[in-house]
Amino acid sequence: MAGQAIVVVGTQWGDEGKGKVVDILTEFADMVVRFQGGDNAGHTVVIGDEKIVLHLIPSGVVRRHVLCAIENGVVVNARTLRREIDDLRKLDIEISGQNFLVSERASLILPLHIELDRLSEERSGKGKIGTTGRGIGPTYEDRVARRGVRFCDLADPRDLDSRLDVLLDHHNALRRGYGVPELRKEDVAADIREGVADILPFVGSVSRMTNRFYEQGMNIIFEGAQGAMLDVNHGTYPFVTSSSTLAAQAALGAGFDFHRISSVVGVVKAYTTRVGEGPFPTELKDEVGEGLRRCGKEFGTTTGRPRRCGWFDAVQVKEAIQLGGVDRLALTKLDVLDALPEIKVCVAYKLGERIIHHLPAAPAAQAEVQPVYETVRGWEEPTAGITSFKDLSKMARNYVDHLENILGVPIDLVSTGAKREHTIVRRQILAR
Ligand code: GDP
Ligand code: IMO
Ligand code: MG
Repeated sequence: MAGQAIVVVGTQWGDEGKGKVVDILTEFADMVVRFQGGDNAGHTVVIGDEKIVLHLIPSGVVRRHVLCAIENGVVVNARTLRREIDDLRKLDIEISGQNFLVSERASLILPLHIELDRLSEERSGKGKIGTTGRGIGPTYEDRVARRGVRFCDLADPRDLDSRLDVLLDHHNALRRGYGVPELRKEDVAADIREGVADILPFVGSVSRMTNRFYEQGMNIIFEGAQGAMLDVNHGTYPFVTSSSTLAAQAALGAGFDFHRISSVVGVVKAYTTRVGEGPFPTELKDEVGEGLRRCGKEFGTTTGRPRRCGWFDAVQVKEAIQLGGVDRLALTKLDVLDALPEIKVCVAYKLGERIIHHLPAAPAAQAEVQPVYETVRGWEEPTAGITSFKDLSKMARNYVDHLENILGVPIDLVSTGAKREHTIVRRQILAR
């Protein structure tokens, strides 16, 4: 009997609580696969008093019975990965060839990419993207330009040598433009070898492993990073990350038969946040936004930057649902709204005199749209830590039901706190 394969994605601008949701669902999974982005992601899992932040290793790793994998849609900084493995070992979470696999086709983030990320942001001045500075964009650029280094290039010195010829030809020309010293092939090669040495034992085929697991009846979760609005194709371009964050990428990047994916779980916050630059129609620059930041502890997991905060944007989330084939939702951080006497939900945009129900494609128009709100009454009662839907106050239940109605997709899971147990499971998403 075949297993179940599902995808978990962010439906806003990232940090929706994907880490927590993946951890919850992993109770019924045998394999968890991270499918795009790199260590720009920061996924948090809170078990008891222990807060575990993962940048590359799937959040499923906290449950010890699963195989965790990084597929080749991901760009990997081998040194960050090494540190993450060390940190997990300190928590007695063992990472071995038995429970961890990195795709042989995943691209390597090199120090030159991180340097270029910084230089290009500095040069952009006011037009900067506000990247996480992890070298993500430059690494994906090299990947599609066919000059990137992948783990499999380390197997045969001839492959690394020819990759580096092409890579350095391009980068040294760029570096001359930026006025930074050129790099020598021998030094870059030695640095790569040193950086990946501890990771090579984990390298293998994620495509063969995911398909085999599925055929053997195992359940697989594909864990996305960032969110739909940071998708390079459909997000608020150019203020996006450099990968496809939508669910379809899970199958593409793993080399997994996409017919086998049965469900896409969209993780959505009960309000909206964004880190970095770019349009954000429902942003609140007042004390309400400040309150959301304080109550929701909205500071970047990867960079520590304060997150921009705003009301729930149903127009944007509906778009994310449609773009990504989301068929069920996990609503997080309901508790952060506990103290508010009234809550707003954006149900349309105003562009000039026109009312529209989608985010326009062009950046100037995206920056110009004004939210049209409806106001709902708050519940002004604690929901924090509640584990059963019927124990929520009537107004809190109304808010969840109301969002479900507007969005047209069931909210199967509601999160009422950062801890694993602070979760309301309305319908099981994965089963054995
Ligand atoms: P991710 O990138 O989507 O995995 O999300 P992050 O981990 O970057 O950010 C979500 C933050 O909210 C983390 O600090 C979580 O521990 C926390 N969190 C998740 N769910 C809830 C919730 O329901 N309530 C509260 N108060 N915090 C939550
Ligand atoms: P998780 O997986 C929130 C944002 C950056 C910047 C833009 C491009 O934790 O939800 P990049 O370094 O990717 O080139 O930056 O994308 N960004 C995120 N925002 N959560 C993330 O990941 C993010 N990863 C990247 O802030 O605006
Ligand atoms: Mg995050």
